[in-house]
Amino acid sequence: MRYGYFDDAAREYVIDRVDVPVSMTNYLGTQRMGTVISHSAGGYSWLDSPQHHRITRFRPNGVPMDWPGHYVYLRDDENGKYWSLSWQPTGLPLNEARYEARHGMSYSRFLCDYQGISAEQTLFIPREDGTEDPVEIFDVRIRNNSDRERAISVYGYVEFSFHEIDMDNQNFQMSLYAAGSHYEKDAVLCELHYEPNAWQFFAGNFVPDGFDGVREAFIGAYHTERDPQGVASGRLTGSTELGGNPCGALQKKLTLKPGEEKRVLFYLGTGRGDAAEQARQRYDEAGTDRAFEELRRFWDDKLGQLQVKTPHENMNRSLNIWNFYQSEVNVLFSRFSSFIEVGGRTGLGYRDTAQDAMCIPHAEPDMCMKRICQLLHGQMSQGYGLHLFDPAVLEKTEGDGFKSPTVIPEADKKSMLHGLKDACADDALWLIPAIVENVRESGDLSFFDREIPFADEGKGTVWEHMKAALDFSYSQVGAHGVTKGLRADWNDCLNLGGGESAMVAFLLVWATNHFLDAARALGRKEDEEKYTALKERMEETCREKLWDGKWFLRGFTAAGAPIGSQAAREGKVHMESNTWAVISGAADREQGLSCMDSVDEWLYTPWGLMLNAPSFVTLDDSIGFVTRVYPGVKENGAIFSHPNPWAWVAECMLGRGSRAMKFYDALLPENQNDQMEIRQAEPYSYCQFIMGKDHTAHGRARHPFMTGSSGWAYYAATRYMLGIRPGFEGLTVDPCIPADWDGFEAVRKWRGAEYRIRVTNPEHVEKGVKKILADGRETDKIPVYAGGIHEIEVVLG
Ligand code: GLC
Repeated sequence: MRYGYFDDAAREYVIDRVDVPVSMTNYLGTQRMGTVISHSAGGYSWLDSPQHHRITRFRPNGVPMDWPGHYVYLRDDENGKYWSLSWQPTGLPLNEARYEARHGMSYSRFLCDYQGISAEQTLFIPREDGTEDPVEIFDVRIRNNSDRERAISVYGYVEFSFHEIDMDNQNFQMSLYAAGSHYEKDAVLCELHYEPNAWQFFAGNFVPDGFDGVREAFIGAYHTERDPQGVASGRLTGSTELGGNPCGALQKKLTLKPGEEKRVLFYLGTGRGDAAEQARQRYDEAGTDRAFEELRRFWDDKLGQLQVKTPHENMNRSLNIWNFYQSEVNVLFSRFSSFIEVGGRTGLGYRDTAQDAMCIPHAEPDMCMKRICQLLHGQMSQGYGLHLFDPAVLEKTEGDGFKSPTVIPEADKKSMLHGLKDACADDALWLIPAIVENVRESGDLSFFDREIPFADEGKGTVWEHMKAALDFSYSQVGAHGVTKGLRADWNDCLNLGGGESAMVAFLLVWATNHFLDAARALGRKEDEEKYTALKERMEETCREKLWDGKWFLRGFTAAGAPIGSQAAREGKVHMESNTWAVISGAADREQGLSCMDSVDEWLYTPWGLMLNAPSFVTLDDSIGFVTRVYPGVKENGAIFSHPNPWAWVAECMLGRGSRAMKFYDALLPENQNDQMEIRQAEPYSYCQFIMGKDHTAHGRARHPFMTGSSGWAYYAATRYMLGIRPGFEGLTVDPCIPADWDGFEAVRKWRGAEYRIRVTNPEHVEKGVKKILADGRETDKIPVYAGGIHEIEVVLG
């Protein structure tokens, strides 16, 4: 069963059956302000931080699903019938009203046809040029398709939040009396009296015929957003109050002749009446059109950095549109603004952010570099990363801003720094490939010498930061000489402490490989030699101590018991250790083939690869929290999406393109558009996990959008399956594809030049480059061009 389809020309997913069993979400905003919005216009906005500056309110994990939102209602003022432009909240019977939702690149559109009136509401946040404050625009068009004149009232409605998440969810004895509403310059204002200059506005491009600033006045006692009294009665009350729950509700009365269309704009932003007035001027109809065009151009440019044309339609759709889009949203908004994480935690997760920033430097260099610099600052001088930290707190100097000791809990730098006992073994290691990939992209070797402070004390060059991360990991080894797992390795639920983690050992080898590549580019011989020796010793230890005959162990508990062995009854085969054994290059070829065959045999499902199998059923705290998670769910035997691309990379490194594609296809959300009764999640977004075989809901996907699986899927598919990899001194094109492909094409922009790549596969191999032609001349290396367009032909064989 399906609920929608892909409109590739518009780069939209169209939900034409809006009674989806779960919210299908999208993200608005590309800079400071963001909104997460569902297919029925439910959701919330924030400015900079969903924890510290929420703009609109959301009632998480509630019923009705995903309320409230950014709603527009229409009311027929002759007969009193009213409806919303998104199917919810009014929820008209779908055999009476026609609804559609379209999620596009940083905008969402809700369309409705009812009682001879067709209308649409487009939500988007224009890009600012740095001097203005951000605004969300509701662009509403209403058309009279009937043959008589109609009197229609249009209402815009939002419920404001108390900014601080703690204020919004609790401490009502304070917040309900310290926030209020006002009316100024035809705009409803929400004031957070306890914060300096904390104002939000909701305005329209018209003089309102009515307004309400008090939620209870608009909704009415014993009513909800489904039947708000203000809309039902056709009369807003002009309410404002110092205290209570502020909302923004505005009414505009229209008359529409037969065939006539009218347009109404609403603005949600930060500031008082003057700011509302500015928004009105900047985003009049022409200004709104310009801003929407600019947003489209922004995405044309981003997506245009790499476009592919393969024989695989859904792979094209994913890489050219949705997979990149999702990866970009992750880099922009990190993890903590969704319907799952509703701003309750904020800041940057060290490992997640580093991986996000590694995957899309070609199209988002500035934001990736910004994240990397924040992470470098979030590294302790001992070498490990602060697992979860707010860069704003680190960057703040003493005496900055306003402090309210009674109402707003404030993070301070000291309490954010944590000791070794809370360090995760992998966090800072991810930063090394992230840095190196970004420098390969930009070619700016001087970045390695930039000085950046450590989180606790002192500062060092980027190069010194990288060495600190390596030194930390090479020194944290357990009884077998394998790196310790500490509080957790990549797997949050594997809590080995002093036990040893195969995943981290292999990741350390991989990070060292990236470091060594950079050392060679910089001519830093001494470091090259030192870290080559350390790496080789670690590789040898891994091959010896972690090999279990058919596959690699996942590690050892602190007491020395092996995890993930052939002898084990639960948690026998694990994805992390086996994929990373191959990706790192530490496994020899025979081990690599055998361990990835085991992954296929034990972990493959038509929905993707499970993280481990069989799931743990016996509680064992020496392994970790994973043994306390239900079988088939999350880290315990679910199809955890994030490591799936690791298996694609591993198979590509082994030269098995069909196997890589089999794994890719299983996880690809676009492939599951017709199985929504099982998947129950967006078919345009990788989800954090999908229930595994050991769960009754096998195939159900959960936690869309905000997941590292997106960046990794993009990275693995473009760099390893299609094999397009920038290096310090040249571009590599070394694909690993299914044998039945005749080839593919790609346009890749890199360091100011455009590479038009055409790969042909006359002998139908899976891997192996026989010939390269660069601008018609045969070569063994694709050079870095200073600019211009270049034709690259790669013949496999
Ligand atoms: C979640 C976390 C990520 C972790 C993964 C596996 O996705 O955000 O940091 O690596 O779970 O536990």
